[in-house]
Amino acid sequence: MKRCLPLLLALALELLACLPSVAQQATAVVGGANKPEWWKETIVYQIYPRSFQDSNGDGVGDLKGIISRLDYLKSLGVGTVWLNPIYASPNDDNGYDISDYRQIMPEFGTMKDFDALLKGMHDRGIKLVMDLVVNHSSDEHQWFKQSRSSRTNPYRNYYHWWPAEKGKPTPRYSLFDVDNNAWKYDSLTNAYYLHYFSRKQPDLNWENPKLRQEVYSIMRFWLDKGIDGFRMDAFQYVAKDTTFPAFPAGYEQDIVRYYSSGPHLHDYIQEMNREVISKYNVVTISEGAGASPEDAMKFVDPARHELNMAYHFEGMGIGYKHDKDYDYLDPQGYNLLEFKKVYTRWDKAFAEKGWGTIYLGNHDQVRMVSRWGDDRPAFRAPSSKLLTTFLLTMRGTPFYYAGDELGMTNSVFKSITDFRDVAARNQYQHLQQIGADLPTFLTRLAKSSRDNGRTPFQWDATANAGFTTGTPWIGTNPNYLTINKLQEDKDPNSILNYFRKAVALRRQHKVLVYGQYQLLDEANPHIYAYMRTLGKERVLVVLNFSSDKRTWSLPTGLKPAGQPWLNNYPTLQAGSAFALQPWQAVVIGLQ
Ligand code: NOJ
Ligand code: CA
Repeated sequence: MKRCLPLLLALALELLACLPSVAQQATAVVGGANKPEWWKETIVYQIYPRSFQDSNGDGVGDLKGIISRLDYLKSLGVGTVWLNPIYASPNDDNGYDISDYRQIMPEFGTMKDFDALLKGMHDRGIKLVMDLVVNHSSDEHQWFKQSRSSRTNPYRNYYHWWPAEKGKPTPRYSLFDVDNNAWKYDSLTNAYYLHYFSRKQPDLNWENPKLRQEVYSIMRFWLDKGIDGFRMDAFQYVAKDTTFPAFPAGYEQDIVRYYSSGPHLHDYIQEMNREVISKYNVVTISEGAGASPEDAMKFVDPARHELNMAYHFEGMGIGYKHDKDYDYLDPQGYNLLEFKKVYTRWDKAFAEKGWGTIYLGNHDQVRMVSRWGDDRPAFRAPSSKLLTTFLLTMRGTPFYYAGDELGMTNSVFKSITDFRDVAARNQYQHLQQIGADLPTFLTRLAKSSRDNGRTPFQWDATANAGFTTGTPWIGTNPNYLTINKLQEDKDPNSILNYFRKAVALRRQHKVLVYGQYQLLDEANPHIYAYMRTLGKERVLVVLNFSSDKRTWSLPTGLKPAGQPWLNNYPTLQAGSAFALQPWQAVVIGLQ
């Protein structure tokens, strides 16, 4: 979708000029990236609370629901949970529009429930990372209500206002607006306010030191409760040049570049680090890493005292097609060579210092197996397992999205009324206004919409997958009768049990966390093979990213040692070449 594409196509593709040889890699000096930290070794499991487990039959997932599933989380072996926003919100964008940063959304429960949830996680050795959404608030936040009430209100400068007597402000593209316009006129004070996302998500003014202190105080409130860190929403966008200079034509196709390069961004982060983060042993992750690995390094270079990790969008931009009115996922799929280049490039970015993340899906994306694997019945299990293998054997902290461990797939959306996402609905309205081809848009949306990743978690084969006894807020994927947790728990070869094995493996072998990465057979369009090396330990990962059998010859000098550590098929036909089954994934030690 056009409004999502700039978010997704974060970075222009630059090809790797050269990779170090095997010998160079093996002897490379251990860099700062190898300094052990709990947040490098952990595996983050992301829960979208609205869709995880409903406890009271209102069709909306809630905190008590998550509490009832804590033993399931423990059984996965993951060390950290990231919860999407659970704060008070009118839910224009499912909690990414916060009206009170210190209250729990009543639909999700109470502060008592939250305290019980945090304790329940900590009792099980699981850390909790919360979403911090401070690029914008809800328009129903008290700050905004005050701010818009008069030009002299003390909260006026908490947001960005443009007095209408100065004429129209310079254009700014909005990601979720029906008119694509990030300036909304407000007759109450004859001024426009800025909103990069929907009209109900006005952008906060970080130039105002009072606003920054409010944010720090909110952070302390949650950190003092004992949470273990923040995933910082749209954080690369918080700094703005408040003179609002004109951007060149076409800037909206490269939003990240223009919106992430605001002045003082790193001064703000350093201030936040001094005043808050440095006082706690917690993890901080920026959503967005600027427009290049060099930008990303500024967020995470330990010497700069800013954040721990930042996640890039370049991987998420792969396989999008552009239409004149919107962008959508190419039904023909994606190019593995491009995929390998992107992930190799981003591994290299943090090879010596800083630290990255690795993910293939989340609540803003379609389901991992439908996009990067093959969700047809014959291939869904092996390809889900292959993608899991990739996520858990790359360097960088894995962010694994709830439901992917079951191989949950994209859903079936037919009419616009099936969709819930503000981005989908507002874009539909926009296209309706300009007379675009709506049936074609809907077909493409069904495969590209964020709602694919937001359907209820599939617990069992009872009504609504055991998610709710009521009517779910978004339709359950009809395939829950066969794809569900209960079923997979019982099957030792299920995707779920494979995930548990892969998690245990990463926890056991530090080479999978800290080991240097080296791409092998770069030009192979079907096989993604790489080696990880830590000291004397070397491990080979071979992934057949295709629904056909493939043979892969081992590079000269590489000799497997013993049985695979992990294999998503019962056997491996190995000699000087591997005879790989469709989507076969193998992790094997090297002599
Ligand atoms: C990124 C979040 O992940 C997404 O869900 C949200 O719509 C935007 N930021 C705006 O907060
Ligand atoms: Ca509920």
